[in-house]
Amino acid sequence: MQITLEPKSYASFETDALVTYVFEESDPVQGRIAEIDKSVGGLLKKIASGGELTGKALEFTLLHAPAGLEAARLLLVGAGKRDQFNVATLRKIAGAALRSLKSKSIRNFAFLTNEGLSTEDAAQAIAEGLITGDFETDKYKTDKKDKKIESVALVGFSDSDKFAAEKGLNRGRIIADSQNFTRDLVNEPSNKLTPRVLAEKAEAMAKEAGLAVDILDEKKIASLKMGALLSVAQGGPEPPRVIVVTYTPSNAKPGAPVIGLVGKAVTFDTGGISIKPADGMEKMKYDMAGGATMLGVMRALAALKPSVKVIGVVPATENMPGGTAQKPGDIQTAMSGKTIEVLNTDAEGRLILADAITYAKQLGVTHIVDAATLTGAIVVALANINVGVFGSDQTWTDKLLASAKATGEKMWQLPMDDEYREFIKGSFADIQNIGSGKGGGSITGAWFIREFVGDTPWVHLDIAGTAWNDDAKPFLAKGPTGVSLRTLVHLVSSF
Ligand code: BES
Ligand code: ZN
Ligand code: ZN
Repeated sequence: MQITLEPKSYASFETDALVTYVFEESDPVQGRIAEIDKSVGGLLKKIASGGELTGKALEFTLLHAPAGLEAARLLLVGAGKRDQFNVATLRKIAGAALRSLKSKSIRNFAFLTNEGLSTEDAAQAIAEGLITGDFETDKYKTDKKDKKIESVALVGFSDSDKFAAEKGLNRGRIIADSQNFTRDLVNEPSNKLTPRVLAEKAEAMAKEAGLAVDILDEKKIASLKMGALLSVAQGGPEPPRVIVVTYTPSNAKPGAPVIGLVGKAVTFDTGGISIKPADGMEKMKYDMAGGATMLGVMRALAALKPSVKVIGVVPATENMPGGTAQKPGDIQTAMSGKTIEVLNTDAEGRLILADAITYAKQLGVTHIVDAATLTGAIVVALANINVGVFGSDQTWTDKLLASAKATGEKMWQLPMDDEYREFIKGSFADIQNIGSGKGGGSITGAWFIREFVGDTPWVHLDIAGTAWNDDAKPFLAKGPTGVSLRTLVHLVSSF
């Protein structure tokens, strides 16, 4: 799909459809919409007074052969209340318009920006909405529908805004393409995406993007004594990998901060010997979403070139219940030297993150963010709406939350009082990998990871509820969402 800036006026631009958005107010026909209403001879006012055009969020009004416009159709999308309008709303409008027009076999349309945001922010949000909206999960369907948007022209930016619009458009393209790169990985089934295949794909991405990459194989992992990661991998025949991708800014200075992005990549989580129920187990191919997110972030950073060094560390393994699998009660020694009593083999994400974080610290990271589909309990707490946020350092956590707000990703911080730490005190080892039956499952998981973080400022994102859309949205296909990539790119860029 091509996205271009079109200097022609929206009225004289010939296209299959002209799309714009309408705010929800007592009279939605105002400003630009009133201008269009004049061309169409007052038709919009009529529709609005009949109650069919209100501006309610994602309401669709489609007119054919609108008088006074060269476009074959006019699509008005509701933008909701003006004072709540932001980049997230605009992104959804662009994505929903694209998906709706695509389903009608339209191939080209124009998107007209209305008021509400700076040119750069608007162009970025529209590009992100269009590109993430266009993503489909039909890779393995043999009869793909011939429905494809070929080009979208952005109209309505004035000549003096051209530079800002171009800048926003480019940034949006980079971020959304990277988000789709992540979603594509998450969508892969586990027979197509083993830890070794993930490592190969990460290596190819890094080489293409110009990032340094180091893949640790099972021998190297053993020589580093990553006993927690190995204990998960021992349940099946597929060897684990640790993927290390590094972005170094051209003006890198010794002693400057280094951000570590650690992502859980369990390419399939059966639960191991503490096996999961069959119902819905197929979804556990997405248990590598945290790792895929960090790889997508690294891909975007390579193009955006922020001025801080970033190291992505992705531990990758399957969690299988084979004859060689670890068993409940087994005691493992992590790379850090801490001993862990594995009471439940399904709490494997925290085990692999423990060693990955120890390794990231050895590489010299000064600030850490991890992302993981860590707990079912986060779905109980926050449903599929908010990412769960946990932190050891409020300044660092606040930075992340500010980035989430700026990019319109919903995230919610949960508490990490010392009392919760008691839940994972070990009976027979230093710590145990599940809490002792008092609820607070997501916090317990976070506390387990924190045991390996030490004094390094750290934020943990539990994306188990938000990395996968169980139902299609008007602006996004069913399946992987790529959640938290935008926040992390913003966090690093504004560091
Ligand atoms: N990958 C799962 C998290 C998960 C569970 C995501 C259900 C989505 C739905 C993770 O490895 C896991 O199994 N966690 C356990 C932890 C428990 C044993 C303490 C869970 O949440 O049930
Ligand atoms: Zn599990
Ligand atoms: Zn898991």
